[in-house]
Amino acid sequence: MNSYFLEDVINGLRKIPKAIPSKYFYDQRGSDLFEQITKLKEYYLTECEREIIINQLPQALRSLGDNLNIVELGAGDGTKTIDLLRSIESFVPSVDYHAFDISFGALQKLSQRLQELTNKIKRHYSVVDFSKGIELMTGDKTRRNVLLFLGSSIGNMTPEESVHFLRTLSDRLNPGDRWVIGFDLVKERAILENAYNDSQGVTREFNLNLLKRMNAELQTNFDIESFEHVEYFDENLSSMVSYLQSKRDQSVTFPILERSIELKVNEKIHTEYSFKYTDQMIKEIAQGSELKIVWEGQDQKCYYRLVMMEK
Ligand code: AVJ
Repeated sequence: MNSYFLEDVINGLRKIPKAIPSKYFYDQRGSDLFEQITKLKEYYLTECEREIIINQLPQALRSLGDNLNIVELGAGDGTKTIDLLRSIESFVPSVDYHAFDISFGALQKLSQRLQELTNKIKRHYSVVDFSKGIELMTGDKTRRNVLLFLGSSIGNMTPEESVHFLRTLSDRLNPGDRWVIGFDLVKERAILENAYNDSQGVTREFNLNLLKRMNAELQTNFDIESFEHVEYFDENLSSMVSYLQSKRDQSVTFPILERSIELKVNEKIHTEYSFKYTDQMIKEIAQGSELKIVWEGQDQKCYYRLVMMEK
């Protein structure tokens, strides 16, 4: 993992503009900060998704029979999963649940939270960066695989990357298997921008933590105070875009590389996309991935959508 981190940072800092892949937010501290973000009033995504998971998704899953293999990609700390599994255990005799996440700490929390479930739910946990390790699927043809990709995790990828990702994993699925994907919808700019510039500064801390992680793991000496969290909605891309912006001309030492990194005043390091979807974008992603949309559920405010797609 660390060697990938080093490699990805080196490649990212060579780019113009400089960029670091957003998956590296999630060290222990980053995962904790993200969990705090999900509890912020401004970060509506989690609550909207929970509403759909509780009120609508169980019905849709019920129609899939009772021999399910549930695979959750980027499970996180599982606060969103427990409601779903509780409802599933009320209508199936038994079910396998596999949780994959890049953060060991988050999976530990998840496994603790899921302890209250009955033995009907056979739980499996793996620390994996699922964008690389695709050997996740059991290949069991007798069960219906349901891949959960919740929390608008898909939003970190460009639509092209999403299609590539969905196609690659779908190759391992059997006809009739399903995806359940969470999409955050396009909405008023102020609502979007407040969700990523929260008043308590947790998102700012989350973004800056990436510099702290580099200092800790790659021996760089980023001066955290000299960077600003900058995040706004790019209408042309239909994405929130987040940056770490340098407040001054500066030089950061990178001993492993035996050279330093130069940053100009106001120069930005790109750290994340969070795409916001229209109907059309969702349709195109499904089409491009050769998946059929078979069910959709929205929250009352129409901020967020869960989409079930069939292979
Ligand atoms: C976990 C990728 C869905 O993009 O909304 C939250 C991460 N970044 N605040 C998102 C995040 C800033 C989040 N995802």
